[in-house]
Amino acid sequence: MNSENTVQESKSRRVFQCARRSVLKTPGKFILAATILAAMLGFMLLPGSSVSGAAQGQQDNDSESTIQRGFAMAPVPLDLRGKNRALVGKGSYIVNAQGGCNDCHTTPNYAPGHDPFLGEPLEVNAATYMGGGRHFGPVIVARNITPDEHGLPGGLTRDQFITAMRTGIDKDGSILQVMPWPVFADMTDGDLNANYEYLTSIPSLSGPGSRDP
Ligand code: HEC
Repeated sequence: MNSENTVQESKSRRVFQCARRSVLKTPGKFILAATILAAMLGFMLLPGSSVSGAAQGQQDNDSESTIQRGFAMAPVPLDLRGKNRALVGKGSYIVNAQGGCNDCHTTPNYAPGHDPFLGEPLEVNAATYMGGGRHFGPVIVARNITPDEHGLPGGLTRDQFITAMRTGIDKDGSILQVMPWPVFADMTDGDLNANYEYLTSIPSLSGPGSRDP
């Protein structure tokens, strides 16, 4: 009886100790997890926070440099008459450095002797810039998105352009099949607006890609 009790007792002590250990361990684990998490967060935030600290004050400079860069990389002369200069510069940056519009809407993409994929010094083909014409299968052709005779890129009003970029819905109501509009759909109004403004300022081409296929 006695010995049984002792066994019982030592058993329950073991259980108790075990429970105590795990209780003790739990905050330990928690602290460890919290430390790792904090370290990870710190790691993720550090580069950002060092930028964001400065960025608050530098935001204007940053967007100005995006605008300047946009102007510097525009491969064609821009007609700024009646245009919002900042939007044009920003739009150039979006179209030329981010949107990859040139890949499909300029054919051929690069000036003769300037194809970077052949190890040649890069020069976008100004002669056909955004004139469209790249074929995707027998039916689909990238559109000419240069300004038409009324100055509308691809013959689209600002609203039609934004709708096409957001929803893929063409002005005839069909859904664009190649154009990567699902990627562009999340652009801000400001970015889409800048994108449009830039396209109004590039030279008009009759080009191989019809505006109204
Ligand atoms: C992967 C190739 C590709 C890229 C990249 C691309 N487009 Fe297109 N885009 C097309 C094709 C092809 C069409 C014609 C119809 C279709 O997709 O079915 C088109 C159509 C359009 C239209 C015509 C819509 C209409 O309603 O007539 C506009 C505007 C346009 N693209 C703008 C852009 C802009 C601006 C960019 C860059 C931000 C861009 N595209 C990038 C392939 C592309």
